[in-house]
Amino acid sequence: MSRLRKGSRVWRDEEVSAASRVLVACAGPYFTIEPRTLFERAAPLEIEIGAGRGDFILERAAKAPERNFLAVELAATIAQLMAVRAGRSGLTNLKVVRMDARTLVNLMLPEASVDAFHIYFPDPWPKERHLKHRLFTEWFAASLKVRLRPQAPLFVATDVAGYAEEIFAMLGEGGFVRTELAVPGAESTGFAQRFRAAGKPIHAGAFVARR
Ligand SMILES: C[S@@+](CC[C@H](N)C(=O)[O-])C[C@H]1O[C@@H](n2cnc3c(N)ncnc32)[C@H](O)[C@@H]1O
Repeated sequence: MSRLRKGSRVWRDEEVSAASRVLVACAGPYFTIEPRTLFERAAPLEIEIGAGRGDFILERAAKAPERNFLAVELAATIAQLMAVRAGRSGLTNLKVVRMDARTLVNLMLPEASVDAFHIYFPDPWPKERHLKHRLFTEWFAASLKVRLRPQAPLFVATDVAGYAEEIFAMLGEGGFVRTELAVPGAESTGFAQRFRAAGKPIHAGAFVARR
């Protein structure tokens, strides 16, 4: 709660201009994301879905200035907080978009335009009646595959064993194969650090699409 209050407080002050430099304006009847236009250059694109405060993507974007990074976050105050942090960082290769990642992935990205998806600790929605809010469905897995370039990885981590089983099975059925690649966010996102400190097991996998 205090994090959310901080988000709205920060958003009201003079750093709005820094944040607005990185926030993608979702406007127009046919809003789409065209990565080359958005970043004003052609470069490999990595997308983090449900990026939260942006701990992982801020660090990764700073380490790889030759790549472009897009952080997607549904919750407005959290996205604003992340945008403020990204704006303050001065990074020019990181943008933040506040929207439902399902809309972005299903409808708004060009085919074969993404060089890596990172999905870390997607909300598990444990109550039966809320299951419909879960990010992963067969349809979503199919859309991820369409947006990835050939051999580009999808990185996933969750602390919920049952959800991991479901996601990994869904990806297998959807034409992904598991690889030996290390999963970069499994140790370094905000939630990963919290779960590790608490000694919770983390279930992580890297996948590429079978072509
Ligand atoms: C459990 S948090 C994990 C945050 C971050 N990935 C981490 O590991 O620290 C899940 C995040 O996903 C966001 N989220 C949930 N559903 C989403 C959706 N459909 N599209 C984009 N973001 C979503 C939530 O608002 C929340 O910030």
